[in-house]
Amino acid sequence: MAYNLLKGKRGIIFGALNEQSIAWKAAVRAHEEGARLVLTNTPVALRLGTLNGLAEQTGALLVPADASSVEDLQALVAKAQEHFGGKIDFVLHSVAMSMNLRKGRPYEAANYDFFGKTLDISALSFHKLLQVLYERDAMAEWGSVVAMTYIAAQRAFEGYNDMADAKALLESICRSFGVIYGRRKRVRINCVSQSPTLTTAGQGIAGMTEMFGKADAISPLGNASADDCADYLVALFSDLTRHVTMQTLYHDGGYSMTGII
Ligand SMILES: NC(=O)c1ccc[n+]([C@@H]2O[C@H](COP(=O)([O-])OP(=O)(O)OC[C@H]3O[C@@H](n4cnc5c(N)ncnc54)[C@H](O)[C@@H]3O)[C@@H](O)[C@H]2O)c1
Repeated sequence: MAYNLLKGKRGIIFGALNEQSIAWKAAVRAHEEGARLVLTNTPVALRLGTLNGLAEQTGALLVPADASSVEDLQALVAKAQEHFGGKIDFVLHSVAMSMNLRKGRPYEAANYDFFGKTLDISALSFHKLLQVLYERDAMAEWGSVVAMTYIAAQRAFEGYNDMADAKALLESICRSFGVIYGRRKRVRINCVSQSPTLTTAGQGIAGMTEMFGKADAISPLGNASADDCADYLVALFSDLTRHVTMQTLYHDGGYSMTGII
């Protein structure tokens, strides 16, 4: 059901890769709620062509950008502002990549070039994005920026590898930039800590199937799906959450607060 929660709002969504992606679902829901969108992903991801269908479905402009490149982010934000003819109301950072995970290098035998890339793409890119938005004064007052995170930022999950450290840094950037952006421009910044979800990135995590099943069994409401996450993101982009900022918000069916029995 649509409620027109984002009527007239303009947003950039990072990280839609295929129909399973959290960002893909978020784009579909934001469009249903009346938002105008710019979709972005790496040039390689755009070349796959899958995103063309989503852009068509949501009437969005597609702009390639490597989230770890300040130049790409500057060009993206400039193009989005030109396309919208004004400021941006919301941004979703739904980006993560670990070569250590991809190559099966365990945490205790990390390759440090890979580790650096994990931190750069999955966490520092959020700072770069926020800095570009801030310097260009591109966000509308009471705008909303959200990044996707996981509870491995707080608790040890061996299979999550160096991505756990990236998520801890991401959540810290959310707080550190949140205080500045909130005080000076009334822009809110939050992280959504999502249940294990069977996406491309999710399935790259060592032991994901077991992790998914155990989390589902422990969570009083069961794992939250990507569709439910999209609903929650719409609420965070909307005017109904204007004083929520600098938070890690658990969208996990209660997993993060549940004890053993
Ligand atoms: N799937 C889960 O279990 C889960 C749980 C909690 C949080 N998250 C987080 O949600 C976010 C989205 O992941 P997803 O599960 O939808 O998987 P996904 O694989 O669909 O999305 C990850 C996206 O990151 C993009 N990306 C990688 N490198 C990039 C770069 N250099 N520049 C721009 N984009 C780049 C990929 O192209 C892809 O679109 C990630 O931050 C992930 O860590 C996922």
